[in-house]
Amino acid sequence: MTASTTTMNAGGGAELIDGKAMAAGMTADIREQVEMLVRQGHELPGLAVVLVGNDPASEVYVKNKAIQTHRAGMKSFMQMMPESTSQEELLALIEELNENPKVDGILVQLPLPPQIDAATVTNAIHPDKDVDGLGEVNTGRLALGMENGIVPCTPLGCLKLLQSVHEDMTGLKAVVIGASNLVGRPMAQLLLKANCTVTVAHIHTRNIEELARSADILVVATGKAGLVKGSWIKPGATVIDVGITRVQTPEGKSRLVGDVVFEEASRVAGHITPVPGGVGPMTIACLLHNTFQAASRRRASTEG
Ligand code: GUN
Repeated sequence: MTASTTTMNAGGGAELIDGKAMAAGMTADIREQVEMLVRQGHELPGLAVVLVGNDPASEVYVKNKAIQTHRAGMKSFMQMMPESTSQEELLALIEELNENPKVDGILVQLPLPPQIDAATVTNAIHPDKDVDGLGEVNTGRLALGMENGIVPCTPLGCLKLLQSVHEDMTGLKAVVIGASNLVGRPMAQLLLKANCTVTVAHIHTRNIEELARSADILVVATGKAGLVKGSWIKPGATVIDVGITRVQTPEGKSRLVGDVVFEEASRVAGHITPVPGGVGPMTIACLLHNTFQAASRRRASTEG
């Protein structure tokens, strides 16, 4: 997809990077590919999403994942487990899903309750079904710059949004604020692979404003609403805002905001993602992409 189909003017100077439109295009493409797979006589791809507990935000996320999975023409298997679930019970379910031939992708929604170790659980998912790309095998493949791994959905979505603006990112200075396993670290690996000069900033980083202001590409994933002000942005930079926080307005309503103060940043940046409608929809579209890829690979390997 070209920049002209995914960006529009944000009002204050920056072009808006339209993640919602790009995600809808990706989902429609995946649906066509699923239909082709079925016409060739294959089973529908299936995605299992496991939610432990009742975190309201996670409930919304997994519901959206199921809706979009159906929209892409694939099967969705939802597994809801109570907050009191033990690690052993969750590992037993993952073992079952690993063995189930109808399941091509497995995602365990994070965060998990405190009695469960997230790393143990993500590593129990078979690497070929690890559509979140968070296990050690896929993390290692990404760190080694290998092509055969599954890339975590949010950073993959950010990369696709960046590619809609920059045909070639070679030599650009990229700063990633946030060093989480879910976003910051894999994002840095992807940018490095795209030939950027990459710096990862985190809670201990000194002179973070100055560092951010040096970036041609700024990716912000901290979960701290409004951390990045307009004065942190280099004029003309591309800004990807991964944060999404619900805040109360003075009128007593609520709205979703990012980690970047959009009104300020959009006056300085060259391109910027909105919240909502930027990274969020792309995360789900990339989950569908990863699931379809996993399904295609499994069908090819069982035929060969
Ligand atoms: N919680 C918030 N984002 C994600 C994600 O991308 N994957 C999983 N498994 N849990 C999440």
